[in-house]
Amino acid sequence: MSATVLSVVGARPNFMKIAPIHQQLKKRSGISSVLLHTGQHYDAEMSDVFFDELGLSQPDVYLGVGSGTHAEQTSAIMASFEPVLLDYDPDLVLVVGDVNSTIACALVASKAHVAVAHVEAGLRSFDRRMPEEINRLLTDQLADYLFVTESSAIYNLADEGIPGERIFFVGNVMIDCLVEFLETPPKHDLLDSLALQPGDYALVTMHRPSNVDDQGSLRRVVQILDDLAAQLPVVFPVHPRTRKQMEAHGFTGELESVGDLHLINPLGYLDFLHLMARARIVVTDSGGIQEETTFLGVPCLTVRDSTERPVTIELGTNRLVPLEREDIRRHVGEIMEGGRRETTVPPLWDGKAAVRIANILEDKLA
Ligand code: UD1
Repeated sequence: MSATVLSVVGARPNFMKIAPIHQQLKKRSGISSVLLHTGQHYDAEMSDVFFDELGLSQPDVYLGVGSGTHAEQTSAIMASFEPVLLDYDPDLVLVVGDVNSTIACALVASKAHVAVAHVEAGLRSFDRRMPEEINRLLTDQLADYLFVTESSAIYNLADEGIPGERIFFVGNVMIDCLVEFLETPPKHDLLDSLALQPGDYALVTMHRPSNVDDQGSLRRVVQILDDLAAQLPVVFPVHPRTRKQMEAHGFTGELESVGDLHLINPLGYLDFLHLMARARIVVTDSGGIQEETTFLGVPCLTVRDSTERPVTIELGTNRLVPLEREDIRRHVGEIMEGGRRETTVPPLWDGKAAVRIANILEDKLA
């Protein structure tokens, strides 16, 4: 009799985390691995492309919940997940990261007395205005197995009263995915089509509500992009949330007229990885990109007040900067002058995190 593990994906940053885990679990004779997609992200370029590129099998279950307010989206996931959970009756539900799909499925599983594993547990920004922080805190309270990527997470979980025997320091599954695909050719030759030289452009991503949802912040983002494009060519794959806000606040025309600023559609995994690995500098407000740039040794400016991934600052290439023109200009200048400090890849970010997770689950569920 094999144990059933039901893994949940929902939003873009989940796919590259689940791909290596699902691949490992499928190899284990004692485990039957089921993949469920909530449909929190649904566009071809926010979802389908990752299945195509990462070798992730099509989901066994697709809930198709789509967008909405936090309450609408979270409750829609919960209501449609519950009957599926009861039907599959898995031994464990595995969730990753900090999106609304993560907390929604963890909560339903936990109330149905199904064990929950949380991959990327214990990360804390200590900023509860971030929806992801609420999702992280609550998911960790519910989880039976907490798989962590860095040592700060172990201390955070201990402070929140999580028993040590539930916590497993396994490394970083997103880095597993990066290691696997780093040498895979991109789908499109963007360097060529955008006339960019390796090591001589900035790659920007920006989609946090705190940076793009209000007009004042978005205006500062526009000014920063303008400044940056005066220093070096800029590529900006625009997230749908950001695109919507830019249009609503009337900034699209202004941005499109900035020379050397390439506003493009969201990219697939391979194209984005190719661009990121060759960038002179990355400017972002993403969670995962802080980790990927640290692994790649590419300087990263994270436009936020806090990070839930402090190891990327302590050991890696990441620096926090406020959403202020002067600060960003100064940091970019420092990086352009070559002022780089010694950085290292954090412990256990070695491409083997999914193997460790599968070993632990196989042992515990036997
Ligand atoms: C979500 C995650 C965030 C993650 C991000 C990566 C939560 C709380 N937030 O934020 O942690 O960094 O995904 O992308 O779960 N939209 C589309 N097509 C899609 C998906 C979204 O057009 O396929 C648009 C919709 O207009 C939607 C908006 O983007 O209203 C925001 O999507 P949503 O899933 O609510 O949150 P994200 O900002 O993507």
